[in-house]
Amino acid sequence: MTVLALETSCDETAVAILRGRDRHSGSELLASEVASQITEHEKYGGIVPEIASRNHLVHAPRLLERVTRDAKIDMSHVDAFAATSGPGLASSLMIGASIAKGLAIGFGKPYLAINHLEGHLLSPFFGGADCDGQIRRNVSLIVSGGHTISIRVHGLGNYHLIGCTVDDAAGEAFDKVAKMLGFGYPGGPEIENHARAGDPDRFDLPRSMLDSENFSFSGLKTAVRYSLPKLKGDFLADLCASFQQAVVDALVTKTIAAAQKYDVDLVTMSGGVSCNHELRRQLGDACAREGFEFKSAEPWLCTDNAAMIAFAALLRLQAGFESRLTEEIDPNFALA
Ligand code: KG4
Ligand code: ZN
Repeated sequence: MTVLALETSCDETAVAILRGRDRHSGSELLASEVASQITEHEKYGGIVPEIASRNHLVHAPRLLERVTRDAKIDMSHVDAFAATSGPGLASSLMIGASIAKGLAIGFGKPYLAINHLEGHLLSPFFGGADCDGQIRRNVSLIVSGGHTISIRVHGLGNYHLIGCTVDDAAGEAFDKVAKMLGFGYPGGPEIENHARAGDPDRFDLPRSMLDSENFSFSGLKTAVRYSLPKLKGDFLADLCASFQQAVVDALVTKTIAAAQKYDVDLVTMSGGVSCNHELRRQLGDACAREGFEFKSAEPWLCTDNAAMIAFAALLRLQAGFESRLTEEIDPNFALA
């Protein structure tokens, strides 16, 4: 069974082709391409939806051609077409969904509307031994530029929200603090690089709402803003390390508390911020200490891509799901 998926929820255009062997022997990624638009939006200081959708229109046909060539597959041999259906920017989602629907109609194949967050959520299971449609019970942390949520996963498509951010997402806090420090977008990798040489204990920054299942990062961001004008000399690496450690502490504390409360034996993590090595190491160590298995999405699957959308679509298809062609995109598509 071969699935072609498009991801156009924000400023990345991505297309992937994934072949499932059978429910018990995993899948093989035949091709995956991501076209970033960072340079087009950089000068505006944020994503401009109209520019994003225009670029999706330019990039998508080119990437479709490239993935079918790389995968050595004719479009008529694809068994289902999928696209991210939300959450995201309406005008961007519309491009990927319209292309996938058009291909599904043209080739008479099923269409699958996939939730972007489900793509992230399932990505720790991508391609491995667990890639058999049997998604194990777990507590899952999704940390990206737009979302910070923890979820109880009972199985494929069976999700319950534990907590989410009440203000900034973790990645958004990284990006905003990076901007204050004069770094480019995305800010997470630059902060991580500076933090490597820094002392995470030098600045005492807040860890908000530690007793709640929800998250909050705007107080931390504001604390960095207020401390900046008072700082002199060589502080950059220490400030980055202290900020990063405050984010990691909040994420690790709440995730371990949720895993204990909901009595799971597996913790998973995905989304752009889960590229962060300190977060991966410290959540991994905390899980080992507390007796939980820990699975994080591989770094190449953490930031937005279409392979994770194809994987979610493949698991859904194998489980007998498909979407109606009349299903509209949903910019606020809830996962749980
Ligand atoms: O999942 P993603 O590609 O897009 C959304 O769905 O939002 O995540 C992008 C976010 C950005 O905020 C970026 O700064 C953050 O992930 N990020 C990181 C790192 N790499 C990417 N944050 C911290 N450390 C990193 N190494
Ligand atoms: Zn994402």
